[in-house]
Amino acid sequence: MSVLQTKGLTKQYAGLTAVSEVSLTVEQGQIHALIGPNGAGKSTLVGMVAGRTEPTSGEVWFEGENVTPLPAHARIRRGMAYTFQITAIYERLTLAANLELALRDRSREKAIAALDRVGLADRADQLAGDLAYGHQRLLEIAMGVAQSPKLLILDEPTQGLAESEIAEFNTLIKSLAGDTTILLIEHNMNVVMELADRITVLETGSVLAEGSPDDIKSNPDVQEAYLGHAEA
Ligand SMILES: Nc1ncnc2c1ncn2[C@@H]1O[C@H](COP(=O)(O)OP(=O)(O)O)[C@@H](O)[C@H]1O
Ligand SMILES: [Mg+2]
Repeated sequence: MSVLQTKGLTKQYAGLTAVSEVSLTVEQGQIHALIGPNGAGKSTLVGMVAGRTEPTSGEVWFEGENVTPLPAHARIRRGMAYTFQITAIYERLTLAANLELALRDRSREKAIAALDRVGLADRADQLAGDLAYGHQRLLEIAMGVAQSPKLLILDEPTQGLAESEIAEFNTLIKSLAGDTTILLIEHNMNVVMELADRITVLETGSVLAEGSPDDIKSNPDVQEAYLGHAEA
């Protein structure tokens, strides 16, 4: 069963087609990675999925329903979570208080359990604003995950994370696999190859290739366009 489908999704800006006729299916429980060079249209595409960016044409279907006319908040209510949209952290609150807000539940136990998933439980009573940058990103992810979304969209979640934090991130995402469906935009190819069940490669707004990590690694078009000079 598919959780998300885009049908011919297109976004044109003046003189530029950022996303062109993208039809993508994300299956239930999978980690689906979206990769491609800078400017390929990845953020624009997930912006249209989340309802932040209005498509020029095409449709977004979520759990069998055409959600194209719905605003972002209505999509969130239906179970979409987008890291930059809903999980801004409150710097003057403790980590535990941030989690209680994300959970809409004043349960310290649940808050600690959610923090524990990203290795931050021992910092529960620190102020979020005092965390290092990488830890703030992990807190954001913990807040997104705590809401048990049906679809979690992560746009370059490991950007700015140290190697040890990337390892924690990988562990977290693996622990979610099967329950939460994840659409992951990621530059770090090690992370992509370790986590993804399926990969879609975008180039200049269009789908260049789609398949398993092995398919993508051995695809000559992808090697030519992207993998040969990936930034990872
Ligand atoms: N609001 C906007 N107005 C005009 N052009 C935009 C806007 N947002 C993105 N673009 C352009 O659309 C293209 C795709 O951008 P983006 O989706 O951010 O790519 P990616 O996330 O893959 O790096 C780029 O050429 C970018 O400059
Ligand atoms: Mg982007």
